[in-house]
Amino acid sequence: MKLGPIERWFVNSPLRQAMQALVIRWFRAVMPLGPGADILEIGCGAGAGARMLARQFKPRRLVLTDIDPRMVRLARIRLSHGASPPPRFCVGDAARLPFRSETAHAVFGFGFLHHVPAWRDGLAEIHRVLKPEGLYYFEEYYPSLYQNCITRRLAKHPEHDRFTGSQLREEFARAKLDLRCTLELKRFGILGVCAKKNWKP
Ligand SMILES: C[S@@+](CC[C@H](N)C(=O)[O-])C[C@H]1O[C@@H](n2cnc3c(N)ncnc32)[C@H](O)[C@@H]1O
Repeated sequence: MKLGPIERWFVNSPLRQAMQALVIRWFRAVMPLGPGADILEIGCGAGAGARMLARQFKPRRLVLTDIDPRMVRLARIRLSHGASPPPRFCVGDAARLPFRSETAHAVFGFGFLHHVPAWRDGLAEIHRVLKPEGLYYFEEYYPSLYQNCITRRLAKHPEHDRFTGSQLREEFARAKLDLRCTLELKRFGILGVCAKKNWKP
């Protein structure tokens, strides 16, 4: 689901960038990722996080995707100079990612999954595109934060079938994503890293 104007302003603000820098610092501390990885960011927004990922993880390939062409355009402008490697940009829905299976060493998602109506399909897609033992680094928020009497007036989110922490954990298990590290602020949101379990029929 595309963002409303207030949230679009917020994700482009210095405050949001400072938050993302802290989140990435936590990711690096709990689950380091060596240089040369193939990284996919879903729901890249205006590309501020991607610029930090490029600097800090030194990937071999960086692919950025978002459902909103306007966001992809902003990310392309932000990263048009000096980003190494030059990222690949793509408009796409997290619930039906336009990528081949087992192509990413790591998937990053900063606050995007709670915007996806079919978020379970999004988790299945993350599992599909990850290489065996690939990592999913995520930052997510709960409805008590974004659907309370104040925030529901400020930002647009899907209304139904939203996840809390316990539902997210259950679905990770169902999607065969093994939750390795978490930092949870109860009723607010969660940071974490999952590893793809190898599925053997
Ligand atoms: C809250 S913003 C976060 C943007 C950026 N990751 C950040 O942290 O600043 C959520 C982003 O997810 C994107 N998004 C929403 N639904 C999506 C979907 N189904 N597939 C891919 N991206 C989606 C939105 O367009 C938006 O750019």
